Amino acid sequence: QSSAALLKWAQAASRGFAAAAASGPGRKVAVLGAAGGIGQPLSMLMKMNAQVSQLSLYDIAGTPGVAADVSHINTKAQAKGYDKDGLAEALRGCDLVIIPAGVPRKPGMTRDDLFKINAGIVRDLVEAVGKHCPGALLNVISNPVNSTVPIAVEQLKRMGVYDKRKIMGVTTLDVVRAKTFYAEKNGVDVASVDVPVVGGHAGVTILPLFSQATPKVTMPQDVLEALTKRTQDGGTEVVQAKAGKGSATLSMAYAAALFADSCLRGLNGTPAVECTYVESTITDAPYFASKVKLSTEGVDKVFDLGTLSDYEKEGLKAMMPELLASIEKGVQFIKSG
Ligand code: NAD
Ligand code: LMR
Repeated sequence: QSSAALLKWAQAASRGFAAAAASGPGRKVAVLGAAGGIGQPLSMLMKMNAQVSQLSLYDIAGTPGVAADVSHINTKAQAKGYDKDGLAEALRGCDLVIIPAGVPRKPGMTRDDLFKINAGIVRDLVEAVGKHCPGALLNVISNPVNSTVPIAVEQLKRMGVYDKRKIMGVTTLDVVRAKTFYAEKNGVDVASVDVPVVGGHAGVTILPLFSQATPKVTMPQDVLEALTKRTQDGGTEVVQAKAGKGSATLSMAYAAALFADSCLRGLNGTPAVECTYVESTITDAPYFASKVKLSTEGVDKVFDLGTLSDYEKEGLKAMMPELLASIEKGVQFIKSG
């Protein structure tokens, strides 16, 4: 009985993840860092996405096991594992490349503390993307996202294959958290909630726009400030709870799968709107997360911020020094490297 229920759920989930699938071609998707804490559940969720026909699972260690495991799931995507020597083949012909490769935080660390190790990992993987599937959409998860996205862009520019519509930093987990916390606090149905989250993906650069949340609830200032802070510190809450065993993996895999699904729907002709960190001109920062329209070539339109409350205007001003410094650090890593 319970396995029948589970199968029914899995079938419904894979249909739900891909209502547009029937009309579009099967897509080739790669997960780079597929054997990691995020990579494994994300690989499973992508295997359940009916828009995916080929799934490349790449990591520097552990991919044969993950690929064998994931490939037994009875959905149409063909999952294949690749090790160090297989990166080119993993990427060739890809429509979407998702990068969760790199080290996670331990308690007491900032995301920027990961720069030393993750900057080089992202640069090298993006170089391979530029070589083997330059037209693919790229979803960057590896931290610090505020810097790794500029690194990816500068690397592709250097190779002469940059297209600003294709490169996105994944900030969906901030939106997922803001929706959860807002629904809990206000006693509304979480399935009906929407909250845009803009800026970047670290501390004060994460700015939930609760004044634009739906359904609309007017919150006292102290509650609003507490919800804003909890959203900004959501990652740290998980890092502390995991007490040295890494950062968010399951909620992140869920968020990345939602975002990837929207990217694939867009490619297949059903545009979707998501918040994501992209090259941008809507503020003083050259990269900024805001709502964008995802369409057949990737980012089709970057929406402006709409009307902000005074509290949100202050938050926007306060984030700029840190955001600009993180962007510049990423740009310089490639320019002076
Ligand atoms: P993890 O250590 O569990 O897994 C990382 C994986 O990357 C490992 O399997 C490792 O072998 C692999 N890897 C390392 N170097 C590689 C390379 N050169 N090529 C391919 N694979 C390589 O870490 P995790 O918990 O999965 O987190 C991964 C990254 O995602 C971290 O940087 C973390 O901070 C970030 N993260 C981002 C968000 C977000 O919202 N954007 C959320 C959570 C975590
Ligand atoms: C998150 O927001 O959970 C991730 O960026 C991981 C982290 O280090 O907090």
